Amino acid sequence: MTVFGPSANLAAKLILLGALAAPAGVLGWWWLWPRSDYQRNVHWIINQPVPFSHEHHVAGLGIDCRMCHTSVEVSANAGLPPTYTCMTCHSQIWTNAALLGPVRRSLADDHPIAWRRITKLPDYVYFNHSIHIAKGVGCDECHGQVDTMPLTYKAKSFTMKFCLDCHNDPGPRLRPANEIYNTEWHRTRETPLPSVLLAEYHVPSRSLSDCSICHR
Ligand code: HEC
Ligand code: HEC
Ligand code: HEC
Ligand code: HEC
Ligand code: HEC
Repeated sequence: MTVFGPSANLAAKLILLGALAAPAGVLGWWWLWPRSDYQRNVHWIINQPVPFSHEHHVAGLGIDCRMCHTSVEVSANAGLPPTYTCMTCHSQIWTNAALLGPVRRSLADDHPIAWRRITKLPDYVYFNHSIHIAKGVGCDECHGQVDTMPLTYKAKSFTMKFCLDCHNDPGPRLRPANEIYNTEWHRTRETPLPSVLLAEYHVPSRSLSDCSICHR
C-alpha cells in the first residue's frame, strides 16, 4: 500500500497554489478597492442644502465659472460662492421659490450655505488651481463636463495615478488659454500641436513627477 497515491501529487499542487493565491487576492483587494471608482464616489450625487444646477446656470444661462468660483485663477482654491452672489439674481428671479428657502435664510441669518464638498484631496497632498489654469489645463480635465450636471458629482477618480497620468505627458491635454472654461472643448485639427502648446506655456518647468511637487 502506498501512503501517497499518484493523485496526491495533484492535490498537493492545488493546495500550494491556493495558499499562494489567497494572499495575492487579499493584497489585490486591499490595494485596488480603495482606488476603485465605487469606493471614491465617482458619479455619485451628493445631496446639497439647495439643489443647485450647473446645467441650468452654466449651459442654460451662460454664466462664467469665475462669477461663482472667483479665486480659481489667482489662488490654490477655486472657492465656493457666497450667498450674496446668488442674490444678485435671486433677489429678483424665483424670489419666493421653496427651493431657494435655504438661500434666503442664509442671507437673513448672515450664515453661509453649508455646501457639501465633492472633491477633496487628503491633507498630505498639495494642490493649486492657479498654476493649472495659467498653464492651459481646462476645468473639465479634472471635473468633467460640469455644465451637463443638474446636480454636481465627481467625474474623475482623483487617485495619484490620475494626477501622474497627466504630469508624465501633459502636452496632449493642454489647450489654448481662451478655452479653459469651455467644458465642451476638444482637440481638433486647428488646435496647436502639443509641442507648440508646451513651448508656449513653458511646460514642464521642472520634473512634474517628483514626489515633492505634490507631497511637500
Ligand atoms: C452661479 C454660480 C456658479 C457657476 C456659474 C458655476 N458654479 Fe460651480 N458651484 C457652484 C455652487 C453653489 C457649488 C456648490 C454646490 C454643488 O456642489 O453643486 C459649485 C460646485 C462646483 C464644483 C464642486 C466643488 C466641490 O465640492 O468639490 C465644481 C468642480 C464646480 N462647481 C465647477 C464649476 C465649473 C467648471 C464652472 C464653469 C463651467 C462652474 N462651476 C460654474 C456655483 C457655480
Ligand atoms: C446670473 C443670475 C443667477 C445667479 C448668479 C444665480 N442664479 Fe439661480 N437661477 C437663475 C435663473 C434665471 C433661474 C431660472 C432658470 C430656469 O428656470 O430656467 C435660476 C434657477 C435657480 C434654481 C431653481 C432650480 C433650477 O435650477 O432651475 C435654484 C435652486 C437656483 N437657481 C439656485 C441658485 C444658487 C444657490 C445660486 C448661487 C450659488 C444661484 N442660483 C445663482 C439665475 C441665477
Ligand atoms: C488639475 C486638476 C484640476 C483642474 C484643472 C481644476 N480643478 Fe478644481 N479641484 C481640483 C482638486 C484636486 C480639488 C480639491 C482640492 C482640495 O481638496 O484641496 C478641486 C476643487 C474645486 C472646487 C471646490 C472648492 C475648492 O476651491 O477647493 C471648485 C469650486 C473647483 N475645484 C472649481 C474648478 C474650476 C472652476 C476649474 C477651472 C477654472 C477647476 N476647478 C480646475 C482639481 C482641478
Ligand atoms: C490634465 C493635466 C494635469 C492634471 C490632471 C493634473 N495636473 Fe498638476 N500640473 C499640470 C501642469 C501642466 C502643471 C504646470 C507644470 C509646469 O509649470 O511646468 C502642473 C503643476 C502642478 C503643481 C505645481 C504647482 C507649483 O506651484 O509648483 C502641482 C502641485 C500639481 N500640478 C498638482 C497636481 C495634483 C495633486 C493633481 C491631481 C489631483 C494634478 N496636479 C493633476 C497638469 C496637470
Ligand atoms: C502629481 C501629484 C503627485 C505626485 C507627483 C506624487 N503623488 Fe503621491 N499622491 C498624490 C495624490 C493625489 C494622492 C492621494 C490619492 C488618494 O486620494 O488616495 C497621493 C497619495 C500617495 C500615497 C498614499 C497611498 C496611495 O497611493 O494612495 C503615497 C504613499 C504617495 N502618494 C507617495 C508618493 C511618492 C513616493 C511619490 C514620488 C515617486 C509621489 N507620491 C508623487 C499625488 C501625487
